[in-house]
Amino acid sequence: MSFDEEITTLAQDIMRSRKIVALSGAGMSVESDIASFRGKGGLWEKYDPEEYAHISTLRHHPEKAWILLGAMQKEIAKAKPNRGHYALAELEQLGFLKTIITQNVDGLHHLAGNRDVIEFHGNLQTVTCMDCGHHLSSSEISLDDIPPRCSKCKGVYKPDCIFFGEAIPVEALTRAHQESRTCDLMLVLGTSAVVYPAASMPEIAKSAGARVVEINPSETVLTRFVSDYIILGKTGDVLPKVVDRIKTLKKD
Ligand code: OAD
Repeated sequence: MSFDEEITTLAQDIMRSRKIVALSGAGMSVESDIASFRGKGGLWEKYDPEEYAHISTLRHHPEKAWILLGAMQKEIAKAKPNRGHYALAELEQLGFLKTIITQNVDGLHHLAGNRDVIEFHGNLQTVTCMDCGHHLSSSEISLDDIPPRCSKCKGVYKPDCIFFGEAIPVEALTRAHQESRTCDLMLVLGTSAVVYPAASMPEIAKSAGARVVEINPSETVLTRFVSDYIILGKTGDVLPKVVDRIKTLKKD
């Protein structure tokens, strides 16, 4: 099948679906200049996650955890949604996309205009003091001195995201399960699908009878075992083309 035919196939699959859920990962934000985690140039090449991103590091060596967090905060603070994010927002506005389950902590789906976003791993937009619970926007803390300390009690701030060694918040987990179980098309966008429990969502959708379609420049662990098909490409290239094709098909 040619690339163009693949775009048409996905557009048709979207148009005939009753409920569509997307699972997004770091690849979705690569075109917004936010580094992904795995592979060449990924964050985990530079920072060992067990060493820098574990909750016990934040508790016992916060200055170390904040080296990674500070780098991520700075990258995210200047990032803007890309064409892939905007295409998903349009897919929601057109009435096709119900929910996004995102593993990303950058808030770009919200910024692009999507309204139903489950932030499975939390987000970096806000921080909470680990001692007194003081909660504020990340833009209000200074990254000049790390770790940033609470203006009220001098405790260490923790971004409102999930660290290794922490459980997924029950509400996000319950909703993501519910949406995955009840969709009939799951779009798996820019994720290597190796981190559980997020990676189980396509499996849950598939077992409940949904079609699973990936958009990713590379095959993943899902490709041959779970996905119905994959469109090999960047989400910022493929998603806008799919949305344009839907609009054309709707006119016909
Ligand atoms: P990964 O870095 O594991 O995977 C990124 C995926 O995006 C890969 O499959 C790439 O091929 C793909 N990719 C790269 N550029 C792309 C583009 N322009 N368009 C589409 N896809 C592209 O990131 P995640 O799967 O999101 O968790 O990682 C999952 C979790 O692992 C993260 O949420 C994070 C990390 O540890 C925590 O920190 C708790």
